[in-house]
Amino acid sequence: MRLALVLLLASGTWMAVDHVGPPPTWTVAPYLRHVRADGVTVCFESATPRVSRVRYGPGPDRRHAVTSAAACFHAVDLEGLEPGRVHSYVVEWQDADGWHATAPAPFVTAPVEDVPFTFAVVGDTQDQPTVWRDVAARVQEARPAFVVHVGDLVGNGFEAEAWNRELFGPARELFASAPLLVVPGNHEEDAPAWYRYGAFARGAHTWQRRYGSLELFGVDSNRPCGTGSVQAAWLREALQRSTARWRIVLHHHPVWSSDSDDYGDAQAGVEASGDPRVQDLKAIYEEADVDLVLSGHVHGYERTWPLRGDRVDRERGVTYIVTGGAGGYLDAFGAAPPWFSATVRAVHHHLLVFVEGDRLTVRAHDREGRLIDELVLTPRERSGALAGARANG
Ligand SMILES: [Fe+2]
Ligand SMILES: [Fe+2]
Repeated sequence: MRLALVLLLASGTWMAVDHVGPPPTWTVAPYLRHVRADGVTVCFESATPRVSRVRYGPGPDRRHAVTSAAACFHAVDLEGLEPGRVHSYVVEWQDADGWHATAPAPFVTAPVEDVPFTFAVVGDTQDQPTVWRDVAARVQEARPAFVVHVGDLVGNGFEAEAWNRELFGPARELFASAPLLVVPGNHEEDAPAWYRYGAFARGAHTWQRRYGSLELFGVDSNRPCGTGSVQAAWLREALQRSTARWRIVLHHHPVWSSDSDDYGDAQAGVEASGDPRVQDLKAIYEEADVDLVLSGHVHGYERTWPLRGDRVDRERGVTYIVTGGAGGYLDAFGAAPPWFSATVRAVHHHLLVFVEGDRLTVRAHDREGRLIDELVLTPRERSGALAGARANG
């Protein structure tokens, strides 16, 4: 079918656009990343270079357009959007038959006010695309505002085809509307594709993102994050400066885990708390009264009790969650629970986080969507001069 449409370009000129034939075989279909209050980034990739264009705007009114020069991979920044509002976009591309377009996809920008929202968390989507497809379908049913990924996106980040096969392809519809925020795992680390598809420009390994009353902080735990490291210093200062009511830190390797063999031998009774690379961060989390620390790497689900000073502290403890179960082959946990572990499940799963005023609720659902854990947090007393500012954030 040949359908002629008319669109208004950013230049203000009108031109006919022909939608001819099926869409191209994407190397990576359009997905969103870097959601912010006034923008988002649309990424897509085809096997051959194409001039492309993204049309976008509030609601169904896609009055704006950004043209991207001929290339295989495109990362198109949409700017000047309204905070906390549903927008939509289409990707257009040119070939010998004329211009073509994807179906419209909606997304929501970050709010600047304290309004309720829900986001999803997944980790370790690597190696088993059929599992990840099921998990991604469950995530999509919840229509999260965005998706946080705690690393190990694919089994081998240096294998070009793995990114579509293991990550983007099975979650194509989800990632068309739910922007990704990611930290790298050890399976992609410094692969060129990580820098192309992932979050950062070369040289930037940390990020923070404000979303309403929440602020997220991402750290690359493949790189040094011990006391005295650049990342630890950045994180400490960023947390101190934050005025958000809720603050969550993400890095791939877990501070606490009762995995059977990654850190000691839990099944043989040899207790080890977690990954040595991130142990120094505990002091920063406790000093800043961080609400939640999310990690992956261990393929399963584990939530700690609230912890402070290597003890359970129900008043001022920090809760740690390992959520590395969105696709990879599952790990085993020691049969006896160590003191720090509140609950553990060796199942594929995802998290939904409901941010609603003075209540933050985390729910973990398995591959079939069944609820396997729930955690409700309320704001704790913050120490120091920023306490008042955070309460208003
Ligand atoms: Fe890992
Ligand atoms: Fe992993």
